[in-house]
Amino acid sequence: MCGIVGFTGRQQAAPILLDGLEKLEYRGYDSAGIAVAQSGVAVHGGVEGAGLTKAYSAQSGSRQTVGAARPDAQEDWQEGTGAASARSVQDGSRMTGAGSAEPSIEIVKAKGRLKVLREMTDDGRSVPGTCGIGHTRWATHGEPSVVNSHPHYAKNKRVAVVHNGIIENYQEIRDRLTKEGFSFISATDTETVAHLLDKYYAGNPIEAISRVMFRVRGSYALGILFADRPGEIYAVRKDSPLIVGRSDQGNFIASDVPAILRYTRDVCFIPNLEIVKLTDREIHFYNVDQEEVEETFSQVNWDTEAAEKGGFAHFMLKEIYEQPKAVRDTVSPRISEGHVNLEELGMSQEDLAKVSRIQMVACGSAYHVCMTAKYMVEQTARVPVDVDLASEFRYRNPVMEKDTLVIVVSQSGETADSLAALREAKKLGYRVLGIVNVVGSSIAREADSVFYTWAGPEISVATTKAYSTQLAAVYLLAIGLGRARGVIDETAEQEMTRELLRLPEKIERILEEKERIQWFANKFSHSKDIFFIGRGLDYASSLEGSLKLKEISYIHSEAYAAGELKHGTISLIEDGILVVGVATQKSLFEKLISNMVEVKSRGAYVLGVTSYGNYSMEDVANYTIYVPKTMECFAASLTVVPLQLLAYYVALGKGLDVDKPRNLAKSVTVE
Ligand code: F6R
Repeated sequence: MCGIVGFTGRQQAAPILLDGLEKLEYRGYDSAGIAVAQSGVAVHGGVEGAGLTKAYSAQSGSRQTVGAARPDAQEDWQEGTGAASARSVQDGSRMTGAGSAEPSIEIVKAKGRLKVLREMTDDGRSVPGTCGIGHTRWATHGEPSVVNSHPHYAKNKRVAVVHNGIIENYQEIRDRLTKEGFSFISATDTETVAHLLDKYYAGNPIEAISRVMFRVRGSYALGILFADRPGEIYAVRKDSPLIVGRSDQGNFIASDVPAILRYTRDVCFIPNLEIVKLTDREIHFYNVDQEEVEETFSQVNWDTEAAEKGGFAHFMLKEIYEQPKAVRDTVSPRISEGHVNLEELGMSQEDLAKVSRIQMVACGSAYHVCMTAKYMVEQTARVPVDVDLASEFRYRNPVMEKDTLVIVVSQSGETADSLAALREAKKLGYRVLGIVNVVGSSIAREADSVFYTWAGPEISVATTKAYSTQLAAVYLLAIGLGRARGVIDETAEQEMTRELLRLPEKIERILEEKERIQWFANKFSHSKDIFFIGRGLDYASSLEGSLKLKEISYIHSEAYAAGELKHGTISLIEDGILVVGVATQKSLFEKLISNMVEVKSRGAYVLGVTSYGNYSMEDVANYTIYVPKTMECFAASLTVVPLQLLAYYVALGKGLDVDKPRNLAKSVTVE
């Protein structure tokens, strides 16, 4: 998803914006741009010239100075008849305003990687100014191109805007504004916001923004510059994340913490429907009625190294290796003297005992956590668990029992469908518990109770360590519920918590054997299809293994409950196809072995994933990966690790960009 960064302070903004945007690259993007306020002193000459030279050599980009001083600049650009330099860039054009003492906004945009934008601006040095906003765009409305990239701006160059989210009624607004004489140059929904702001702006930015909020539907996080207010950034959000950070050197906006972690840990997650004004020294919050409101800042305890690769080739591999720590950090504080402590949920033992049903909702990998939870919680607490994809739940008008506890699982805490599902559940009057990684995120704030997973920042698009901590959170909840309902006794609780505390060390042991998986993965990096099969908890792990593989290796993959194979899918099995069989559950082991025999006899090459001790797996499997023994209910935490490594090394073998798979974004904040 798109990324936003903004800075106003006592340093040059552009280098900080570029640095911040780089930290958001993991979210996925196809173009990028920055807008920097020029205070009205000379903006041209040597420095500007340097930028021009760079821009000529860039592959694709555009650069314009817009502002009161250059009323004709955008028209020139629109018609593509701008300065001669425009013809020397391949995709887009570039124009700089004439020297002026009037305040203005300089905008530089480029298609493709941030590297291009860096080249065009001499690493930001050629765009002087201490206040600016930046954006990485992930195309939704309109193809990836310079003209569609952000910042967008109004025709009279008074306003520049970066936007995450979707303006749902943009077409209707666009038609209306077109009739009123506004002309649009991009295919984006965002440009409507720039024109609307321009239309409503009569010297009071907060008023103009609040009027826009009443006109637009959908989701938005906006960073805004007004040309006649150099040094000020305005921001507003609805259902799309945006944070504010403050430091001695100046103040920031960003769509995610890693973007500004290098500069500050003092952050505030902007509450929904609030407007923020930032200057180099002050931050003010306003509600939609334009009244000033107080907000509190909190310290993010993530360290900067956690958001850097730290010597690993990819964030994904680093995060796979961080799993022992992440699981330990999530589990240890919740266990004391063998007992699970769930006080942070604000639910008494009676409240927990009263839960008659659980409805879990999530997307993607988090949904697979819910699938695991279904088996685990039902066995440990004897509470029926229903699992739904958030995108389905939100529209299906669910029928639920009175004492149903709704659990929303989300790493980012911002996934649009999960957030909508949460709101739907609350609207229907149910208590919602969020299992969330990002402190202060929307789901964390809107849920009745929050159970934080302490995975730290997860940068790689493919989740690994957050997934493992979500599993750990589910185990703790299951044990707590099981005790409160009298399903498990103290001895069982002690035994389970002891084993939970050993999981990190067992994950470490799997990581020590990563070469065996790497060797195997290299043999299959050119597969066309790979299947995963399992039963019960192992089926849930198969779903995750298959998703991990397909999302980063682009190999078609499916996971099946092994008993389902005969009902259709087995016809796809042909010579040499890889089938991964996961088998850790004693009561289902023989059944799974039979399914593996079935596919092997039809030509499949079979990889078995099981626990040490289950050596009969080797009678069937062509290759076997063993994970340490654990209680069966926790096996998913161990089997997922070789499956993550398999996906990673297969993708690496294909030479793919593991951390930024095509078409995917880290945080899916639009529907
Ligand atoms: C897959 C992956 C996604 C996310 C899904 C939900 O590796 O990361 O499937 O699990 O988009 O995201 P969150 O947990 O942020 O709600």
